[in-house]
Amino acid sequence: MAVQRDTSGQIESPVNRQFAQDLKEGFEQELKHIPSKYFYDDQGSKLFQAIMGMPEYYLTDAEFEILETQSMAIHKQLAWQEPFRIVELGAGDGKKTIQMLRAFEQAGLDFIFSPLDISEEAIRLLEASVREQLPSIKMESHVGDYFDYLGDSGTHKLPTLILFLGSNIGNYNESSATDLLKLIASNMNEKDALLVGFDLKKNPNTIKLAYDDPHGITRAFNLNLLERANRELGADFALDQFDFYCHYSPESGEVKSYLVSLKKQTVDFKHLNWQVDFEANELIWTEMSKKYSVEQIDKLGAGAGLQTESQFLDCKHFFSDCLFRKQPTH
Ligand code: TRP
Repeated sequence: MAVQRDTSGQIESPVNRQFAQDLKEGFEQELKHIPSKYFYDDQGSKLFQAIMGMPEYYLTDAEFEILETQSMAIHKQLAWQEPFRIVELGAGDGKKTIQMLRAFEQAGLDFIFSPLDISEEAIRLLEASVREQLPSIKMESHVGDYFDYLGDSGTHKLPTLILFLGSNIGNYNESSATDLLKLIASNMNEKDALLVGFDLKKNPNTIKLAYDDPHGITRAFNLNLLERANRELGADFALDQFDFYCHYSPESGEVKSYLVSLKKQTVDFKHLNWQVDFEANELIWTEMSKKYSVEQIDKLGAGAGLQTESQFLDCKHFFSDCLFRKQPTH
């Protein structure tokens, strides 16, 4: 196969190649799909920061409040007298986690913070911000995929609290979420604990507004997927020929986001020698975000061999950080 070059003649990066392959696979499906990890390039990450800053996107504030006010209650529940380790999967900018680190530090606890993120940039920024705000914290960060990391983080001596915050789990369907929790559980010792963020079911109008905001930021965030394909794969998506649609079903608890082709059109991927046809009103599914009830959270954990130790909710009961431990093996 010929080496792919971009317009400046540079050899395409491996990420672009993966993006091309994932898009091809996604566009071959009956319902066209773009994997959601492609939201988060530099432009997308900025838009996501803006989403997290909107008053409609209640998730960030709710989890911030939980970690700001209940971190010591979480530690108490862990019942660890000895030094321990905190591993954070998909740490991002760590704004919420720093609330927990601060509380633990002020209480004089002895621990190592070990964040993991797929973006080197994100880890660099997170390290800088922890160093600045909490200079004496011991840190050991990793860049990578959490599936790879979990695969070989097997043996460790310190009891470990694994963090999987921010409703990331909501982006997996039930069977993938169960598989992911099982994988995490298989890397846990008896003493270890796992804290997972879940967005709770609530007034459907509140949820709808968080994902379909009146400022158009979420719309721009979705359209950035097409812009990214234009930038990185030489595609010619006409952005004004695609719309954004989002729908929350209170019965299933699922928010689903889509791009909509406004006419019958063909998009050309110049660098890939590839064309894709869209019918008028054809959908591209971009994201699923599942909302849980407190009972459904316990059930999901149980299906993965985890038992709920305690659920920590914000004052509005919008969000739950659920503390799981491995079910004892008899
Ligand atoms: N996936 C995250 C969530 O479910 C981030 C997100 C917020 C998002 N708004 C979005 C993802 C819109 C895709 C589309 O909360």
